[in-house]
Amino acid sequence: MSNKSSENVFLFSKKFDVENSIKKTLQIINDSFYICNLSDVIQKQKDWLKYMPRVKPHYAVKCNDDINVLKTLASVGCSFDCATLWEIEKILSLNVSIDRIIFANTTKIASHIEYAKQQNVNLMTFDNEDEIEKIMKIYPDARLILRIRYSSEKAIYKLGRKFGSDPISEAPQLLELAKSYNLNVVGISFHIGSSCEDYEAYGGAIKACRRLFEFGTEIGFNFKILDIGGGFFGDSFNRIRQFSSIINNALDEHFPQNEFTDLEIFSEPGRYFVESAFTLISQIHSRKVTRNVDGSILDIMYYQNEGVYSNFLFIPLGPEEIIPKVLSHKRTGETFKTTIWGPTCDSTDKVCENIDLEMLEIGDIMYYENMGAYTIPLRTPFNAFQTTKMAYFLSEDDKSKIDESYQLNFHHFNADFNNNL
Ligand SMILES: Cc1ncc(COP(=O)(O)O)c(C=O)c1O
Repeated sequence: MSNKSSENVFLFSKKFDVENSIKKTLQIINDSFYICNLSDVIQKQKDWLKYMPRVKPHYAVKCNDDINVLKTLASVGCSFDCATLWEIEKILSLNVSIDRIIFANTTKIASHIEYAKQQNVNLMTFDNEDEIEKIMKIYPDARLILRIRYSSEKAIYKLGRKFGSDPISEAPQLLELAKSYNLNVVGISFHIGSSCEDYEAYGGAIKACRRLFEFGTEIGFNFKILDIGGGFFGDSFNRIRQFSSIINNALDEHFPQNEFTDLEIFSEPGRYFVESAFTLISQIHSRKVTRNVDGSILDIMYYQNEGVYSNFLFIPLGPEEIIPKVLSHKRTGETFKTTIWGPTCDSTDKVCENIDLEMLEIGDIMYYENMGAYTIPLRTPFNAFQTTKMAYFLSEDDKSKIDESYQLNFHHFNADFNNNL
C-alpha cells in the first residue's frame, strides 16, 4: 500500500459487508489491518441529531484521532472536544472554526493554554483553584466551564478520582473564587465515566448542574452552556434510543426550553461515534498445542500479530469482553480450551484465555468488531511493530457529504479494488 493510503476510500453500494470487505482487503494487505466504515460514523451523527436535537455533540478526539474519521465528522458539521495543543492543532488544520472546539481538559499544560489563546480557542474547562490561577495569568479572557464530579460506580472506566469538583463541597467555592477574579465562567460540565450503562446517572448530574446554574446566577454569573460529557457506548445503534429518552426527560425537567431559551447543551462523546465503525483483522502466525500423556489435547495457544501492546492496550485497563471471530475456516464442531496471545516478547501480552474455539491453522484470519475506541491512539512501538494499516469504506450515497477540500481518493469497491493503492 502506498503512503497515501489514508486518502483511499472504497465506495460500496447497498449494505456494508464486513467479511466481504476483509476478504477483498486481504488481497492487498498481508499484515494486520483495520477496516473502517466511515458511513457508520455518519449514521451515528444522524442518529444523535435525531434522538437528542437539543444536545450538540463535540467528538472527543482522544478516543480515536484517525484523520479520515476527523475529516468525516468535520464534514458533517460535528464539533470537537480537544484535550491538548496537538489535538487542537489537528482540528484547526481541517479548517474547523474555533467556535466548534472546546478545550476540555481540567488540568492543562501552561503552554497549551498559551497556544489556545494564540488561536482564539477560548472555551475551556477547569475543576480546581490552581487551574483558576493558571488561567487567570495566561488567558483571563477565556470562557470557562466548571467540571463537577458526578461519577457512576457502574462505569467501566471511572474518571471521578482524577477529574471534577464536588458539586456541593467544592464547586460553589470555585465559582466564588472565579468571580472574585472577574473570570468569565459560562457553564457547568460533568462526565459520568466511560462505557457507562447507568443512564440514570445523567439525570442526577443534570439536576446537580441545575442547582449550580442557580447558584451562579445568585453570585452574578449568567451561565449559557451545560455540557453532559461522554460515556455512551458506541457498539450498537440501539443504545441511543435508551439513553436519549432519559437524558431528554432530565433536560426537559431541569432545563425546560421555554425557560432556558438561549442555553447551549454540549456533549463530548468519544466511543459513541467510533466504536462500531472499526473492525481489527489479525492473523494467526504461530500455534502451540499442549497434550496430555495419552496424546489428547489439553489446550491450544495461538499467537497473532495484534496484542496488548498494539491495538488491545485497553485489555489490562478494564474488564471488557473480547470476542474473536474467525474468517471462514473449516468447521469441525469440536472445540478446545484456547488462549490467544499477542506477538511481542512480553508474557502479559494476552488477548483472551480459556475461551472455547475450534482448531485453527497458522495463517487463519481473526477479526474483532467494535474496535474503534481507545485502540489506535494507545498503541505502542514495543518490539518495533509497525502501525496498523487502514482500509476505509464509505457508502456511495455518503460520498457527497465529505468536504471536497479534504481530497480523499474515492475508488469503487468492486471495480477498482486493486488499482492505485
Ligand atoms: C473530558 C472528557 N470528555 C470526553 C471523553 C470521552 O468519553 P467517552 O469516550 O466515554 O464518550 C473523555 C474520556 O475520557 C473525557 O475525559
